[in-house]
Amino acid sequence: MSHNPQNMQVIAVVGAGPGIGEAVARRFVSEGFIVALLARTEDKLQTMASGIETDFGAGTARYYLTDLRVESQVISSFASIKKELGPVNVLVYNAGARRVNGRSILDTTTEEFENFTKINLFGAFCSAKCVLPDMLSAQKGTIIFTGATGSLRGMPGLSSFSPGKFGLRSLAQIITREYQSQGIHGAHLIVDGPVDGKLIGGVTRRKWEREGEKEKLAEADRFIMQPTDLAGIYWYLYTQPRSAWTQELDVRAQKETMFSKL
Ligand SMILES: NC(=O)c1ccc[n+]([C@@H]2O[C@H](COP(=O)([O-])OP(=O)(O)OC[C@H]3O[C@@H](n4cnc5c(N)ncnc54)[C@H](OP(=O)(O)O)[C@@H]3O)[C@@H](O)[C@H]2O)c1
Repeated sequence: MSHNPQNMQVIAVVGAGPGIGEAVARRFVSEGFIVALLARTEDKLQTMASGIETDFGAGTARYYLTDLRVESQVISSFASIKKELGPVNVLVYNAGARRVNGRSILDTTTEEFENFTKINLFGAFCSAKCVLPDMLSAQKGTIIFTGATGSLRGMPGLSSFSPGKFGLRSLAQIITREYQSQGIHGAHLIVDGPVDGKLIGGVTRRKWEREGEKEKLAEADRFIMQPTDLAGIYWYLYTQPRSAWTQELDVRAQKETMFSKL
């Protein structure tokens, strides 16, 4: 049964959480898209989808429970999306996994390395394989991967994170080189610093609260990237004319030093 009777353009936000994922979903829905939200936690997805529907209208968001580490689940979710909403026009692979406090290689388990790398890289490969055939048939499609500072720099303590993110960057380049001439716009967005939310940005916020940094708290957007502002960058990448496609872009907040923590 089609859940997209008006044939709205379809965006799949893969790794849809309350930060960048939801902000991207909301931005594209506000521009007329229908969104497929993919993640593992049903109650969070339900809240997100119903919030989007409340703000933008019934039938603008559907969620698909998926563990991106499991190929069969990725394939099954994208098959359901195609059946229920239609072919995916825009894929945003946003899932990522890292430790907030790093750990040396010797203290990092192989299980963590495998798990995180599956989330940071393997799920993107599987997701791209699921959407590319329809995009190639349409000779049109956008695939954006979310990168991080760790996509470019191997930092001590992040052995279970950076290798996957490096690989994701390479995969974005390969998608571009293999398919750009056939109408696919592949892009890698390096989010170079903390994002306002529960994880890294939240740690920064709580540190400021403990240290009484009132000025920083009052002007958080100078220091921590705001998901809604980042969502505007994804929209910008999607709307670029085909004579001027960005393959890679890096962004940071005003007070964040470039490729910080080097
Ligand atoms: N937050 C930062 O400070 C920061 C900084 C630089 C770069 N980034 C990059 O930004 C992206 C994340 O954005 P965000 O931090 O704002 O997060 P977000 O969009 O709020 O949430 C991402 C979601 O990905 C989902 N996910 C994780 N593992 C998954 C799996 N195995 N299968 C399915 N879904 C999975 C999680 O939901 P479930 O747990 O429900 O599955 C999570 O809520 C990552 O690529 C990260 O590397 C973040």
